Amino acid sequence: MIRVATVQFTPVLGDREANLDAIARLLDSVEAEIIVLPELCTSGYYFVSKEELAPLVEAPGGVACGFFQRLAEAKQAIIVAGVPEAADGRFYNSVFTFRPGIPEPVIYRKPHLFYKERFVFEPGDTAFPVIRDERLDVSVGVMLCYDWRFPEVSRVLALEGAEIIACPSNLVTDAWRKVMPARAIENKVYVAVANRAGSETKEGERLDFKGCSAVYDPFGEPVALAASSGDVVLVVEIDPRICRDKRFNAVNEIFADRRPELYGAICRKR
Ligand code: ACM
Repeated sequence: MIRVATVQFTPVLGDREANLDAIARLLDSVEAEIIVLPELCTSGYYFVSKEELAPLVEAPGGVACGFFQRLAEAKQAIIVAGVPEAADGRFYNSVFTFRPGIPEPVIYRKPHLFYKERFVFEPGDTAFPVIRDERLDVSVGVMLCYDWRFPEVSRVLALEGAEIIACPSNLVTDAWRKVMPARAIENKVYVAVANRAGSETKEGERLDFKGCSAVYDPFGEPVALAASSGDVVLVVEIDPRICRDKRFNAVNEIFADRRPELYGAICRKR
């Protein structure tokens, strides 16, 4: 069994130090092998210009990367954290995954930009990552918040072997609570959503973040659910081996039953 933690809190917009302090405090006594933090957890969410985001962007070797790598070593845990990234003069809404003993994080850049993110970030250009950890005998897929509306993302991750999909989030609607369990069922994987709480106001517009962080099992049932507000660290035990058998009855196997030759071309075209 593997322990998975999701961290829900209210980042302070524009204050990386305060956010790293909050994360350190929330995780101080937590024991888990996989830890999932929200989207943009070091910076807060609502940026509408590159100038205001610029002091907060990260790259391997940066302040937040050092913090998370040390945390990964101290906890001997995989840490999946949403951070704003700078690379080649561009900004990306990214997830960095840190592993103990491996100094370079795996970077995933959000390809589906939500709402005003496109004023600040470039659409991602990385592959959908599935991180195999032999020590823990688990394969962790990563997607990011609004990716939930694109079933292709979780399907690709599951086809690549993900047994748990970690989804750092800053979700502002409630529809995902119906759909994330479906992502778990249709792929027979665990889904761990670390959503943030609180609200942010920019130019008179307020965004309310919905909390309700959750871990769903491969049958779409919630293993643990957080409240809609406040700081909440969920810690659950999962058995990734369940996800390796894609049968759901004596006859049907969800991956073997797929017919990619019928829907492959149209998915690519439109
Ligand atoms: C979102 O992608 N932050 C909804």
